[in-house]
Amino acid sequence: MRLEIALTGSALLGVAALWPALRQRWQLSRAKHRSLAGHSRMAKHLASWVPGYAYGEATFFGVDGAPPEVVRRRRQGFEFLSHTFRSASPRTLALTQQAREGLSDLQLTGRYRVPFQFSPHVREHLPVGAFWAASAGVQLQDLDGRWYHDLTGSYGVNVLGLDTYKACMAEGVAEGNALGPVLGGYHPCAADNVARLRQISGLDEVSFHMSGTEAVMQAVRLARYHTGKRYLVRFAGAYHGWWEDVQPGPGNPLPPRETYTLADMSERSLQVLRSRRDIACVLVNPLQALHPNRSAPADSALVDGSRQAHFDRQAYAHWLQGLRQVCTERGIVLILDEVFVGFRLAEGGAQAYFGVQADMVCYGKTLGGGFPVGVVCGKAGLMRRFKPDRPADLCLARGTFNAHPAVMAAMNAFLRRLPTPEVQALYQGLDERWLARESAFNQALAQAGVPVRVAALSSIWTVNYTQPGRYHWMLQYYLRDEGLALSWVGTGRLIFSLATSEQDMQAIQSCFVRACQRTQADGWWWAAEGGNARTIRRQLFKEMLLARWSGKRT
Ligand SMILES: Cc1ncc(COP(=O)(O)O)c(C=O)c1O
Repeated sequence: MRLEIALTGSALLGVAALWPALRQRWQLSRAKHRSLAGHSRMAKHLASWVPGYAYGEATFFGVDGAPPEVVRRRRQGFEFLSHTFRSASPRTLALTQQAREGLSDLQLTGRYRVPFQFSPHVREHLPVGAFWAASAGVQLQDLDGRWYHDLTGSYGVNVLGLDTYKACMAEGVAEGNALGPVLGGYHPCAADNVARLRQISGLDEVSFHMSGTEAVMQAVRLARYHTGKRYLVRFAGAYHGWWEDVQPGPGNPLPPRETYTLADMSERSLQVLRSRRDIACVLVNPLQALHPNRSAPADSALVDGSRQAHFDRQAYAHWLQGLRQVCTERGIVLILDEVFVGFRLAEGGAQAYFGVQADMVCYGKTLGGGFPVGVVCGKAGLMRRFKPDRPADLCLARGTFNAHPAVMAAMNAFLRRLPTPEVQALYQGLDERWLARESAFNQALAQAGVPVRVAALSSIWTVNYTQPGRYHWMLQYYLRDEGLALSWVGTGRLIFSLATSEQDMQAIQSCFVRACQRTQADGWWWAAEGGNARTIRRQLFKEMLLARWSGKRT
């Protein structure tokens, strides 16, 4: 009896000793988003489990059980597109085909335009050109002379319009040319860039890098260096470049390391920040405001047709301000990753737009005036790469091409344009203008009776579908045929330049509505009575089990 009491007592003591750690662990688990985007490790395991299989010609058009008449229409529409693509752009397609073998990235982007089960048949019959010959205004021209409205936005670089970047690049090359490739020392315009960026960011110091990924990497490294803490917090689904620590989960061969992925816009996440002592920094990509806790909405993930996006400026501003407060209380470095949204939402970027001041801000993309760049702005105490009282303890960040003369001069040309009346006019009433455009687009889509709507974060849009289905990704091919160029993520991201005029917008809207009507007429949005996204996912899961265990691949 005494022994039992002693054992129970020591067990209780053990639990008491472990209690703080257990509690923290439990808080961390509760602060993960319930989706796979919130569980990097599990998502990685699942990704390695998914078997490769594909639908062949016989099954491709009717995997949802559509009746023969619908299957016939789909097949006909598909063949029509296949024929027009090949006849409209033979040179573009031939070069794409030729380059694919040696260009690794092209193999990836070509393969992941649509859900993988459909991909081989689509690649064979609906080839999409990857080469452009020219650009002008808001349009791109392929190698066969065909013009497309540019909704790729050059991955977000194109904020002020393609012609503006051409001018900045030309000025950058001309001005930087006196120095050529001289590195280590600076072109004088670098000093002006620093002064302008300090003013725009409201922060003390600036460092130049060669890409957005590098800028984020450096901001996180400095936060760790100065706080002496290891962990970085990012929010589920957020993209911050392709470097290990900011991309835990699928896509990264290593398991998650010193990164916590927490739920976006969640009080539980704030609770974790309040209670842990190992967090150096919180990294926020404000683009997530359009789809919190979800990864970038690529059409390859449109397996059941469900995609949800909705932007609530007030709610996101409130969340960021709460986050700011907790970070301040806990000495956690708040890093705003404005590589995508910087200079797009407002001249002062997301900080100005959402009314929050970060400790460090990363910029990139558009800031290079058309050239590759990454920039970190931060408080002086965080930007220093050494400790005066510990001379051997440095935080190195180099990079041969940092502050390249031509890039600095093109950046300067971009920054000098910001206060001009033409650019100020683009920022004036920006939110209202793009809200009105989103609303007009949705009205036109509703009037056309198609199951498609758009959701917008200012000039960054995504396409939502109002019913489940297996073939929504087909829309991207009709859009292309109507003359709208999308990036490889398809209808997941439409990126407009602020220079898009009302007339351009009208033209784009007409093409878009026509493409939707054609997709509908060709039967791709036929829906089974009572079918829903869950039944589709169940069917997919069964297919995967079958493919996994039987080795059947089509
Ligand atoms: C928010 C964000 N951060 C970082 C990056 C990485 O920038 P880069 O592609 O220049 O390395 C991107 C790129 O899309 C981004 O959108």
